[in-house]
Amino acid sequence: LGPAGAGRYEIVQREVIAEILPGVRTPLWTYDGTFPGPTIESRRGRPVTVTHRNELPVPTVVHLHGGRTPAGSDGYPTDLVLPEGWAGDAEHGSGHGSGHGAGHGSGHGAGHGAGHGMHDPRAVVSELTRDYAFPLDQRPALLWYHDHRMDFTAPAIWRGLAGLHIVRDDAEDALGLPAGPRELPLMIADRAFAADGGLAYPALDPALRERPGVREPYLAGVLGDVILVNGAPWPVHEVDAARYRLRVLNASNARHYELEAVADDGRRLDLVQVGADQGLLAAPVAHRLLPIAPAERYDLVVDFSGVPVGGRVRLLNRLGSGRTRDVMAFRVARRAADESRVPGTLAADLPVWRRSDAVRVRDFAFRTGRMHSGHGWLIGGLPFDPARTDVTARLGDVEVWRLIADVHHPVHLHLVGFRVLSRGGRPPLPHDAGLKDTVSLRPGEAVEIITRFDGYRGRYLFHCHNAEHEDMGMMANVEII
Ligand code: C2O
Ligand code: CU
Ligand code: CU
Repeated sequence: LGPAGAGRYEIVQREVIAEILPGVRTPLWTYDGTFPGPTIESRRGRPVTVTHRNELPVPTVVHLHGGRTPAGSDGYPTDLVLPEGWAGDAEHGSGHGSGHGAGHGSGHGAGHGAGHGMHDPRAVVSELTRDYAFPLDQRPALLWYHDHRMDFTAPAIWRGLAGLHIVRDDAEDALGLPAGPRELPLMIADRAFAADGGLAYPALDPALRERPGVREPYLAGVLGDVILVNGAPWPVHEVDAARYRLRVLNASNARHYELEAVADDGRRLDLVQVGADQGLLAAPVAHRLLPIAPAERYDLVVDFSGVPVGGRVRLLNRLGSGRTRDVMAFRVARRAADESRVPGTLAADLPVWRRSDAVRVRDFAFRTGRMHSGHGWLIGGLPFDPARTDVTARLGDVEVWRLIADVHHPVHLHLVGFRVLSRGGRPPLPHDAGLKDTVSLRPGEAVEIITRFDGYRGRYLFHCHNAEHEDMGMMANVEII
C-alpha cells in the first residue's frame, strides 16, 4: 500500500502466486499483492482518495462496502477500471469464456448479454486507473472494499479482490475497548483449492462445468472446504489472558456461519457484541452463538482472562461440518494486565427512526425465477438491469422496506445504514441490533428495515450479497433525487 501523501493511497491490482496452503502455489488476484488487500485506517470526516491501477487481465470495479460515498466513487458495476490493452468487444469472448462460464450460461448474464455497460454509455469509464474519493463523513466502523464488476463480482472476490478499511473517531477511541494488538480484524472467507493449487471456482473450470452436480452449487452460491481467516487457513493466534476486540467480517461468497467460542473444557465464552455493520451499538449485547451472513460485520469483545495459560479457545462454526466446523483458534500464552473495558453505553447518537417517520413502505421479494436462458435470482421478479431505475427515493426521506426471501439471502444497501424493525413478524433478534447495511433474510422470512436516504444524490444499488446470486441478477438500482 503506497501512502502517497495525506489521505491518498495507491493500490495496484495484480496477479500474484501466494502460498496459502503449505507448499501449495496459488495464483490470486490481489490488491497490491496481498490477500486480504492492504488494510486502510482512516479517521471519520477526513477524506481519503484511493487510486486503483488495474494490472489484472480483466476489467474491475472497486466498491467500499459500508462507505457513505458519492455515487461517482461508489463502484457502480459498469464503472470499470480497464486493464491495459483491453478491447471492449473482447469482453464477452474472453470474460465469459474463461472467467465465468456457468454463471453466464445459467444466470442472468445471457439475459442482457450483449448489452451490459453499453446500455448506459455514461457509466463506462475507459481508464486504466481510477481515483475513488471517500469523504468518510460517517460513523466509525469496519468497512471493506471488494470488486463489484457486473456479472463477475463473485469470481473476482473469490480470487482475492477484498480488503478492509477501518474508520475510527475520537469518541470511539475514548471508550477504552481493547486496542492495539488486542484489536483483531478477522476476515473470514471459505475457499476451495483445485489439484493444481489454484482456487477452484465451479464456473472457472470447463471440466468442472460438465460434471453433473456442479451447476447446482454454483446457483446456490459457491462454497469452499477451507476456511481462511485473514487469508490463512484455520490460523491459531496467540493471545494474552485478557479482553480482545474481534472485528469479524464474513467475506465468503455464500457461506453462512454460526460462531461460537469454545474453550478446551467445553465452556462457551460470551461473544459480547459492541458494534454492527455500521459501527457501535447503543449498548453491548452478549451472544453465545452468533449467526453471520456474507458481508455482515460483528464487532465483538471476547474475554480470555478466565482461560488457563496454555489453554485454547476455538472459534467454531456451528453450521459447518468436518473441516468447515473450525474457523480458527486462540492460544492463551500468558497472563497480562488489562486496562480495557466494555462500557454499558457505547454510542449515544444512534439514529432512531420510527415507523411513523416513514413516508413510504416498499415491498421487495428476493426469489429465484426463470429467465430467457434459464435460472436466475430476481428482485421483484426482475433481474438487474443497469438501465432501469427500480426505486426513486428522495434525499432525506425515511422509508420502510419489507424484504421477503425464498431461500437465505443477505440483503445489502449501498450508501445508507438501516435498522431492523421486525423479523418474521416479530421483534428483531439480538444480533439485529444497531445500524446495519446488510441483513440476513432466512428462508421464507420477511424482514422490515427502516432507513433514511441520507448523504448524496445519485444512483446506488441494493442487492443480495450472496455473490453468486448478485451476479445472477439479484440486484437493483436506487436513484436518490
Ligand atoms: Cu459489498 Cu454492493 O457490496
Ligand atoms: Cu456496499
Ligand atoms: Cu441471495
